[in-house]
Amino acid sequence: MNLLDGKYVSEKLKQEIAAEAAEVLETTGRKPHLVAILVGNDGGSETYVASKMKNCEKVGFKSTLIRYDESVSEAELLAKVEEINQDAEVDGLIVQLPLPKHIDPEKVTEKIEYRKDVDGFHPINLGRMMRNLPCFIPATPYGIMLMLEEYKIETSGKHCVVIGRSNIVGSPMSILMARNATPGNCTVTLTHSRTQNLEKLVRSADIIVAAIGKKNFVTADMVKDGAVVIDVGINREVSETTKSGYKLYGDVDFENVAPKSSWITPVPGGVGLMTIIGLLKNTLASAKKEIYQ
Ligand code: GUN
Repeated sequence: MNLLDGKYVSEKLKQEIAAEAAEVLETTGRKPHLVAILVGNDGGSETYVASKMKNCEKVGFKSTLIRYDESVSEAELLAKVEEINQDAEVDGLIVQLPLPKHIDPEKVTEKIEYRKDVDGFHPINLGRMMRNLPCFIPATPYGIMLMLEEYKIETSGKHCVVIGRSNIVGSPMSILMARNATPGNCTVTLTHSRTQNLEKLVRSADIIVAAIGKKNFVTADMVKDGAVVIDVGINREVSETTKSGYKLYGDVDFENVAPKSSWITPVPGGVGLMTIIGLLKNTLASAKKEIYQ
């Protein structure tokens, strides 16, 4: 078993991003600038957004957090998105999900200017991704691809089984792994709650991407010897033994699956750290106008 070490890769890539951000500042007189909108006080979202902002500062980006009370109207939120769309000083805009029930996430996602959509959730970016055109790639799948690239994991011709079909992880991941690219060129099976024989399918996988949001869902008996195991789960449970008061669990039973795997991501210290890298790289690419003019 070898560890796909998110801490090591993310620190390495952050150094590269910081060097490029310094160049942007030198040539344009401006730091790359990410704006995040956070609605309400969801514990997980608070943590993720704080980490995004902190990491922006670490690599020399400007970051702005705009907070709204849970009760903000959809119209007010959409108006703010429009205002930021028009602001030439902003390179990237994200609206943290989930949103309160009275706000339609599809409306918000489509309202974000696709040239600033560093989450890569806008239909234009997703459509361009499908067609293998330059675009912003959703941060978590992007981070996973960077990790596979860093460790030179062979993906071509392999059977990749993705567990979970969310818009944020599972669906885009399945497209990226099937694309004619490196990493990529997999035969992909996208599994979900209605999948029959899910365990049998997972057992046939050379590469498993677990993104279902259920603690220890993938057990050792579901994993073929030598499989590559990517654990996207961030399941938070209250704990009295940690400083934060929470403990994180992946979707994979790490202790028992790790000995069977060739490569595996830990939780924490794996995919979560790489998600931030995906976001930073998209924001940098936006500031450098590498994808859209
Ligand atoms: N909620 C969970 N993951 C994400 C993400 O990558 N971006 C946003 N905006 N919200 C999320």
